[in-house]
Amino acid sequence: MPMFPDGFVQDLKNRADIVDVVGRFVQLKKQGSVYVGICPFHQDHKPSMRVTPSMGIYKCFACGAGGDVFKFVQEHERVEFPEAVRMVAEFSGIPVPEARPSTPEESARERERDRLLEMHRLACDFFERELRKSEVAKEYLKKRGLTGQTAKDFSIGWAPEDGDALPRRLREAGYTDEEMLRGGLLKRNPERNSVYCTFRARVVFPFFSSNKSVIGFTGRTLDPENPAKYLNTPETPIYHKGNELFALGVTKEEIRKEQRAVVVEGNIDVVQLWQGGVRNVVAASGTAFTPQQARLLKRYAGKRVVLVFDGDAAGQKAARKAIPVLLAEGFEVRVLTLPEGEDPDDFVRKRGGGAFLAQVEKAQDFVDYLVGAARLTPDSSPEKRAELAHAVKEIVGAIPDPILRESYADKAGDALRIDPRNLAEAAGREPPRPMRPAAAGFAPPPAIERDLARALLSPAALELDRTVADSFDPALLSDPRVAEIVDTLFEQISRLGAVDLKEMAELLSDESRDALTSILCEGDADRSEAAVTATYLQTVLFLQLRRIDARLKAIAGDPARLELWLEGNGQKRALENLRREAGRPDADLVGLLARYGEELEAPVREFIVKSKK
Ligand code: GTP
Ligand code: MN
Repeated sequence: MPMFPDGFVQDLKNRADIVDVVGRFVQLKKQGSVYVGICPFHQDHKPSMRVTPSMGIYKCFACGAGGDVFKFVQEHERVEFPEAVRMVAEFSGIPVPEARPSTPEESARERERDRLLEMHRLACDFFERELRKSEVAKEYLKKRGLTGQTAKDFSIGWAPEDGDALPRRLREAGYTDEEMLRGGLLKRNPERNSVYCTFRARVVFPFFSSNKSVIGFTGRTLDPENPAKYLNTPETPIYHKGNELFALGVTKEEIRKEQRAVVVEGNIDVVQLWQGGVRNVVAASGTAFTPQQARLLKRYAGKRVVLVFDGDAAGQKAARKAIPVLLAEGFEVRVLTLPEGEDPDDFVRKRGGGAFLAQVEKAQDFVDYLVGAARLTPDSSPEKRAELAHAVKEIVGAIPDPILRESYADKAGDALRIDPRNLAEAAGREPPRPMRPAAAGFAPPPAIERDLARALLSPAALELDRTVADSFDPALLSDPRVAEIVDTLFEQISRLGAVDLKEMAELLSDESRDALTSILCEGDADRSEAAVTATYLQTVLFLQLRRIDARLKAIAGDPARLELWLEGNGQKRALENLRREAGRPDADLVGLLARYGEELEAPVREFIVKSKK
């Protein structure tokens, strides 16, 4: 079955911004017309990776990893191609059109999902309207210090006492009780053979998917005697609690901006922190943190996460369980311990968002946290020390990067006074990211040929097209990669009337594509037509001189020598005329020579000397 409609993938590839997509996972810095960053596919401290938006590709010059935007997501997130396409579409805010599902079951399932999503959107609107009408609900939110704006930001609502109000509204809109049961909005009472509303007399918070569809609800009772403080949507075709993070649909942009996420336990904690100005926040919402949630968060948070779990025993236990799950996905995990008996909600209400942020900055790395939480003293028993060491080993073993694992093992070894080798062994885990062997060294093309190619790639070069394309002799180029680039470029200009770097990335050989990436790194693409023409003509003349010079050397003593010498002299004069025409001072030639360095200076000087003899 085709996964996507014809042309969608290509279109998405053209529209997606590879700098934005890669930039979610790797910090990028602009350099010329490309972006550079530290390659995530091998251990490195230098920025060897280039992302070239004009070609829509990335390339690491150290390990050789490279490809288009989908390949990056596939390799980085370790997902299959269709999932990578979906992720790129989501990052780009481009809806994925329905590929016609091939079986009737599939299309029925799709239709059901769509209807459940629409029904949830309606239910959410209904609850929000009810909130505006309910004094008791508004009073409750006010008592908890939440403003109307905050309620709006999270689409907080009120499920009224009257359990028939919502089903009535949904039936009017054409939904059946069966659908409400499937979506978890109604429940069946088997004894009385009747149905009842799941959420009654509760403040409801919608669960949003990351693209902000409403997929479920959690409702808080106002009754302190009610043993079920929170009630959640059960597992449904559109809601799987282990795959979702509360509020991510609202907070993901802030998380992306900060490149860090604050993870808390409670929904109210999220809402309160948001209101207090700490907006890069999510909650796992009453489940133990799952690998799927960690992967979802990674799309937005980059690497950094701070866990803020309640100071009570349950909260600390949840933190200990979440740490290895996050480490295994490559997160740098920090933990903030709040004073005993205080949750983030209490903290922010007492001391404000600024004070909370100051605490976040002081969060401990997970080793310090684990050792601190165990409260070891110099006379703790060896058993206690060993028990902690086992727990630490289990957690450190989850770190995929062997070097990082070792340095955390060292740190924990110091704190526990245990040989770090006992802690560093991966606890039977394969490092999930296969590291590539270093690629053979990349040698850039000669400076003058890079200059020529860059001149031809600038938009102003299009003005040169006809004459240039017709008169250029690719044999002048010594570097086969540049020859291939220039050749492809002229071919595109004559076929398309323009240079299409994305297409070029697909047409070129791997080596030439790498060479082009290195050329584009060197910037100043937006030069004037005059400057481009000058560079072009001068570089071509230099290249011609270079060739004549080589031939002169090769045929010393030959009668053809004189003819060549004259030709060379003609080129030299042309060069001088060119400079004169352009009204350029002589210093310009000197500058040009300096730029091309040894490579040309010597033969040209030699030529000039010879021509004077
Ligand atoms: P408030 O009392 O409203 O401030 O909530 P809280 O966030 O402080 O609650 P608590 O620390 O007790 O629980 C943290 C999270 O666990 C909540 O946000 C819920 O997601 C979940 N939770 C708490 N109580 C229940 C419950 O009775 N049922 C379910 N399913 N989840 C609960
Ligand atoms: Mn609370």
